[in-house]
Amino acid sequence: HTYETILVETRGRVGWITLNRPEALNALNSQVMHDIVAAASAFDADPRIGAIVVTGSERAFAAGADIKEMESKTGLDMVMDDHFGGWARFAAVRTPVIAAVSGYALGGGCELAMMCDIILAADSAKFGQPEINLGVIPGMGGTQRLVRAVGYYKAAELVLTGRLMGAEEAERAGLVSRVVPAAELLDEAGKVAETIAAKSLPSVYAAKATLDAALESTLAEGLRLEKHAFAALFDTADQKEGMAAFREKRSPDFQNR
Ligand code: HXC
Repeated sequence: HTYETILVETRGRVGWITLNRPEALNALNSQVMHDIVAAASAFDADPRIGAIVVTGSERAFAAGADIKEMESKTGLDMVMDDHFGGWARFAAVRTPVIAAVSGYALGGGCELAMMCDIILAADSAKFGQPEINLGVIPGMGGTQRLVRAVGYYKAAELVLTGRLMGAEEAERAGLVSRVVPAAELLDEAGKVAETIAAKSLPSVYAAKATLDAALESTLAEGLRLEKHAFAALFDTADQKEGMAAFREKRSPDFQNR
């Protein structure tokens, strides 16, 4: 498979997706959406892949949805083309996805990062939802995921003013998992991804699905889901191996079953 707007690479058990539209600061046009969805789906279907990293360039993770592509669209076009519909498929991959953010993560770029499970930010990263400056609002989940990530008042201030925030503020607010020096971003993202990819896949899938449920269910529903997912893992060989390895004071040798 060849991709027009991204670079795709497999390193060990980690799938890497690098946005590659430097002339537009990695603005997310339809082709980028199709490429990312196709690459992430292919990694997701490959049992050798245990984690995915999505990254951009030093200057921009992604500066938003492609304004030049959207400019002339009507409301009806947006509905009939389901212009951002593919992103739901990206958000639904079962493999953990790490966003490694350097530079601008604005609008759809910030929303793409929020579709990932872990956000590692270079100290140079800048996050924001500046759509209000264009006469629109976030359209790829920003109003909903940002409120869940940072709380209503922080999200409302960012969405209503379009102000950008730096990596430190984003970490304090809860949008960023961890800030690292820019020069170490990709190494750190690789380490986190390899750490996850070395676990037992069934438990990793269960952990991601159960964590996801925390954002959209009541506490009682989420706890019920967790109870069943937790119990189901006791029927895997890897649970027996993991606990035997602990007892025998050695590292587990997981078989992903
Ligand atoms: C299309 C973009 C773009 C974008 C940058 N470019 N962002 N093209 N869509 N979102 C292009 C510029 O037009 C320019 O190309 C090139 O990338 C370099 O950008 P510059 O503006 O020259 O760089 P700089 O001066 O360093 O400023 C960087 C920036 C600025 C602050 C990030 O580019 C910017 O404000 N971009 C838009 C950010 C934004 O509003 N994002 C939200 C989009 S809406 P040319 O060829 O012209 O020189 C969205 C939500 C979707 O994401 C939901 C709505 C329904």
